Amino acid sequence: MSKTKVDTHRESSESGKEIEFGTHGSAGAATQKPKAITTRTISEMKRKGQKIAALTAYDAITARILDEAGLDIILVGDSLSNVFQGNDTTIPVTLEEMIYHAKIVARVVKHALVVVDMPFMSFQVDVKEAIRNAGRILKETGASAVKLEGGKPIVESVRRMTEIGIPVMGHLGLTPQSINKFGGYKPRGEEKEEATGILKDAKLLEDAGAFSIVLEKIPSQLASSVTKSVGIPTIGIGAGPGCDGQVLVYADMVGLTQEFKPRFVRHYANVAEEMRKAFLNYADDVRKGKFPTKEESY
Ligand code: KIV
Repeated sequence: MSKTKVDTHRESSESGKEIEFGTHGSAGAATQKPKAITTRTISEMKRKGQKIAALTAYDAITARILDEAGLDIILVGDSLSNVFQGNDTTIPVTLEEMIYHAKIVARVVKHALVVVDMPFMSFQVDVKEAIRNAGRILKETGASAVKLEGGKPIVESVRRMTEIGIPVMGHLGLTPQSINKFGGYKPRGEEKEEATGILKDAKLLEDAGAFSIVLEKIPSQLASSVTKSVGIPTIGIGAGPGCDGQVLVYADMVGLTQEFKPRFVRHYANVAEEMRKAFLNYADDVRKGKFPTKEESY
């Protein structure tokens, strides 16, 4: 059964109590149970000048660790295609596969807002199909919002979704589902015309009811202008420090995908190396008869 996240923000503000958002304030966390973060909480964070921390997850083990670490948003990104499935692009991942992974993530997350990417061709055909597929994601996974890449061409779908209760996160700049149009992963919005288009699209998405927008690989100055010109939070990836929040693919920032090292990824750990060492040591112990010991046996 799908899990509904309670809008604890509203409950708390109406009862006049101090509100704790995510990890912001360990004293609160010690005395209160963690609150489920809603799209409303995310909007409030921009108003209060609190930065939003987001990472991707595709499985229960990682999602649980991210949630315990107090991330505000966990994105089941279609980067699943690259990271988990070993594809070169995000084009091949299907709606069924996104639903399968999102269901697993949403099942274990108690605190963060779970957002799910709508994969390529699950929302581009027409508004009806887009809504039906977005509805499936929410109904079948227990996640709280969907993310759609693109601007003007998808604005009508965004409007209808938000009208009927499907929260939408937008995604502008480098939109990997358009890789065949762009012809590469170079930054977007470096030329005036494209930069103006991104600004306009951001406003259109806000008017259509999107609750936030991912800005991917655009110049910092443009990302700051977008952030100032819309009332909804911007979540940057390779878009500089001026955004309201940041998102990274978790596997990149923990050093699991070592061959992928664009400028905007900071390695916070070298998990691939740790795993390699553990696997080597295990295999060595097995081959030498050192594992298991008597204590590790029944
Ligand atoms: O698919 C994904 O992981 C994303 C983020 C990089 C924003 O869209």
